[in-house]
Amino acid sequence: MQTYLHGRDLIGDLDFSKEEVETVLDVAFDLKRKRALNEPHPILRDKTLAMLFFFSSTRTRGSFEAGMAQLGGHAAFIDSDTTQIAHGDTAKEIGEIFGRYFDGIAIRQCDWKFGNAYINEVAKYSRAPILNMQCDIYHPFQCLADLMTIFEKKGRDLRKKKIVVSWAYAASYLKPISVPQSLILQMPRFGMDVTLAYPPEFKLMPDIVAQAQAQAKKFGTAFEIVADKNGMEKAFKDADVIYAKSWGPLLTTDDKNEGKKIQDSYKHWITDEAKMKLAKPDAIYMHPLPADRNIEVTDDVIDGAQSVVYDEAENRLHAQKAVMALTMS
Ligand code: CP
Repeated sequence: MQTYLHGRDLIGDLDFSKEEVETVLDVAFDLKRKRALNEPHPILRDKTLAMLFFFSSTRTRGSFEAGMAQLGGHAAFIDSDTTQIAHGDTAKEIGEIFGRYFDGIAIRQCDWKFGNAYINEVAKYSRAPILNMQCDIYHPFQCLADLMTIFEKKGRDLRKKKIVVSWAYAASYLKPISVPQSLILQMPRFGMDVTLAYPPEFKLMPDIVAQAQAQAKKFGTAFEIVADKNGMEKAFKDADVIYAKSWGPLLTTDDKNEGKKIQDSYKHWITDEAKMKLAKPDAIYMHPLPADRNIEVTDDVIDGAQSVVYDEAENRLHAQKAVMALTMS
């Protein structure tokens, strides 16, 4: 068990080793139990976290802020629009200055081909740990909560369990590719067989897919890609975990109108009861939320017996508290 994570950043999913992720989840389960029993756990008393958001959030903001308060510290919500960043504060200045005010800096910056580089630039100059609240490449805290939820529902031995990471249609906006990328990187390390499904125009970053395939090889798990126009049904067959969400055709086009046109040709990629029946009878349905209801997923499925979306959202709180307690104490 690797327990010394003091001062560490969490920016990419593989920044923590498998053993370190196991430590995070052990601590997360302990903190979840403590909260259920109303046991105080002020591990970060008098510590502060900056939460710098360049994009909107419901779960990430709420869970980091509540988590810091429950750990005895304080989280400062900082909307980038209300800072001097637009007037010249550089990533270096944010790292240098916030690194001196705060004991941790959490950042959400999802701009394509920019967000991850920005977060790494802040990290280069910060003396405090940097926590990635989602960038253009990774969403590591969502993935830790997802893994925690899968442990709860399917047990700790995930060998031969099949997770389908599938694209789904959405009408609201072209969503980032960070969630599927984090999932395919992390899940093979915990024994899961991964099936990645998307229409041909919605591929993920080749470098990330290559890293995920290398993880699958290292841990002896299966890794399949289904990249055809009607691949959702094929992918769902005999799955234990269905994780179907939308993402934008970012590697196909930078043009939002063209991206929307491509996206609109795949309206049949919706998770509904008929498709869920192709998976195992005890399969669970996961989504990080927000979901486009009755477009990405039907109400019947997201509100149905197989859906675990609210446990998944809750586990954001416990997983994040664990990482903050380990890195900022
Ligand atoms: N899943 C997730 O990150 O939700 P928010 O965008 O609301 O933070």
